[in-house]
Amino acid sequence: NAPVLSDMFGRFHNYLRISVTERCNLRCQYCMPAEGIELSPNSHLLTTEEILRVARIFVAQGVDKIRLTGGEPTVRKDIVELVRGLNSLRPLGLKHIAMTTNGIALRRKLPLLREAGMNGLNISLDTRDPRKFEAFTRRKGSDHVLRAIADACALGYDFVKVNVVVMRGQNDDEVPAFVEMTHDDPVDVRFIEYMPFDGNQWGRKKLVGYYEMIDRLKLVYGDSIVQLPLEPNHTAKGYKIDGYRGQFGFITSMTKSFCSSCNRVRVMADGNLKVCLFGNTEVGLRDLIRAGASDAEVVDTISQAIKRKKRAHAGLDILSQLPNRPMIKIGG
Ligand code: GTP
Ligand code: 5AD
Ligand code: SF4
Repeated sequence: NAPVLSDMFGRFHNYLRISVTERCNLRCQYCMPAEGIELSPNSHLLTTEEILRVARIFVAQGVDKIRLTGGEPTVRKDIVELVRGLNSLRPLGLKHIAMTTNGIALRRKLPLLREAGMNGLNISLDTRDPRKFEAFTRRKGSDHVLRAIADACALGYDFVKVNVVVMRGQNDDEVPAFVEMTHDDPVDVRFIEYMPFDGNQWGRKKLVGYYEMIDRLKLVYGDSIVQLPLEPNHTAKGYKIDGYRGQFGFITSMTKSFCSSCNRVRVMADGNLKVCLFGNTEVGLRDLIRAGASDAEVVDTISQAIKRKKRAHAGLDILSQLPNRPMIKIGG
């Protein structure tokens, strides 16, 4: 019998991403439509207790890394308690607790989250220019994000990554400036290829591919760019500039997929399990749990969903996978 979290292609899923809210304090254009989204009624969202039960079930089956996503996870009032709850799963085998956040409301919470057991943070920032930030996010606040990044580095988190979605004509000129952030700070800046999701007005022309970005950086840095070995189950292809403290990388979902080593599954705020970012087949865990299912029954449902996972959905196939949810309801 294959382990519950193994699929038909030999991939073991030890990484669970949990979206803890559909709400966000920004309105990023690549993530949601200008008019916003229809939020699920509160009664359809997993409670903290339900999230922790689902997490425990996954950890008992071999998940050792959990990432909290949203919406924006910090808008959840009990985010610190939630992290504390996850932290109590370490004796069962959980090793890493991380969060992907836009950093707007993060700074004040940084010490508490660290104490609660958070290991690392991925902070999204697409531009360092306050005016462009407003164009990207339809809100103000890049200074809050920059300060949160600096504080997170100073507070001794195991890692601080900066996520930059690169869009042609909007921030592709800032790629070298983001690489310069790695000069003094021990950050990992990741340039992300723009992906299509419901309502985000993706267009091929707005996509800036990995090769184009690296070619441009070679013009600036020449031989001081060093390629790093690929991490297992990586999303990013890593590089660094010789002598710089931090590193950078490229998340190449569109031009060079990484499906063959995929180890991720997602549970979204409404309790649906999604075995692939781009697959639109989902399995509901919420109603099962609310109907009083035992852990074994939940495990069985999870196992069946994972066994149906396809080999790959990435690259340009993604375009035929639509419609999907809007990104804000997936969490990345
Ligand atoms: P690590 O856990 O640090 O490796 O982070 P991550 O890159 O997996 O997660 P993050 O939330 O920071 O997401 C960064 C970018 O990677 C986002 O654009 C995500 O949509 C994308 N991403 C995350 N997981 C997947 C995945 O399974 N498939 C694809 N194609 N892209 C993904
Ligand atoms: N393409 C690529 N990355 C995206 N993200 C959100 N929408 C998109 C998209 N269309 C990123 C966010 C965040 C992470 C969860 O996913 O910037 O860093
Ligand atoms: Fe995994 Fe699907 Fe992402 Fe590929 S596209 S890496 S299969 S979630």
